Amino acid sequence: MQNKRVVLTGDRPTGPLHLGHYIGSLKNRISLQDGYECFVMIADVQALSDNFDNPQKIKKNVIEVFKDYIATGIDPQKCTILIQSLVPELFELTTYYMNLISVTRLERNPTIKNELQHKSFANSITAGFLSYPISQAADITAFKATHIPVGDDQIALIEVSNEIVRRFNRVYNTDILVESEVILGKTSRLIGIDGVAKASKSLNNAIFLSDSPEVVKQKVYSMYTDPNHIKVSDQGRVEGNVVFAYLDAFLNDEDELASLKSQYRRGGLGDSVLKSLLNEILQSLLAPIAEKRATIIEETILETLVHGSEVARGVAATTLRAVRDVIGITYN
Ligand code: TRP
Repeated sequence: MQNKRVVLTGDRPTGPLHLGHYIGSLKNRISLQDGYECFVMIADVQALSDNFDNPQKIKKNVIEVFKDYIATGIDPQKCTILIQSLVPELFELTTYYMNLISVTRLERNPTIKNELQHKSFANSITAGFLSYPISQAADITAFKATHIPVGDDQIALIEVSNEIVRRFNRVYNTDILVESEVILGKTSRLIGIDGVAKASKSLNNAIFLSDSPEVVKQKVYSMYTDPNHIKVSDQGRVEGNVVFAYLDAFLNDEDELASLKSQYRRGGLGDSVLKSLLNEILQSLLAPIAEKRATIIEETILETLVHGSEVARGVAATTLRAVRDVIGITYN
């Protein structure tokens, strides 16, 4: 029925965005802005599901994430940037979708299980957190999104969304809701500078898009490498070596990368040479982002977000109306 290509993505505003976001999804989003209708959602309600006791943090980071979007090249002329809580239609859709998925199915979600390991409420999961994937299905379907550029931790959530779409269309004998597919970035799970876990704000092991050149340099030079690679002439390990993980993600010259790896394995390539190369690559990636960030006019931010949210609301309201129609609960 529909052959329009629609992109929807979003981020929880729990902190500023980092290089993992950039390589995992932002880069794709920026290149998709042109051929697709495009919505980018700052998912403040979803962020509250595990930060309900710290709403100030979420509110502050709505602005930070918006700045990261603009600085990396998301263009509000091409893409509708919206705040989730300003589109209440999403939460009515969520209510209808809640009937279409079982609690055990939600509990089986590997992304939820993973996230729970780090939560204080791990042993008594809230209804809100368990069911945020339902709300995410509302986000996706409200805009009839077909393509979702995100990291691979989101795959399990898109599966839930597609299950809800199929169930809805079957139960109500319709085809109004549309399934979507994930578009993965080059590196879906960038490791943190400590080499222990995925880069994240909460683990304090990420390089943020808003870090100053000095901080970036200091973080690069503190990266975990191969603890047995002591002298330059020693043979080194590439696997598990954070500098190589970042070179994999950010060095675009495949031949150069391969030759650096073989030289490192053989011995004769020092960590400081590699770190200096990586530092240069990251500095030249981040410099134009910083430059663009400096042009953002603080006073226009909320205006842009409120406007985008109104546009988005119009689209979501049309979907909601159709959903109520096929369920058979329109009275006016
Ligand atoms: N779950 C995403 C995250 O953790 C944020 C998000 C909310 C999202 N709604 C979405 C992503 C819809 C893609 C599509 O950052």
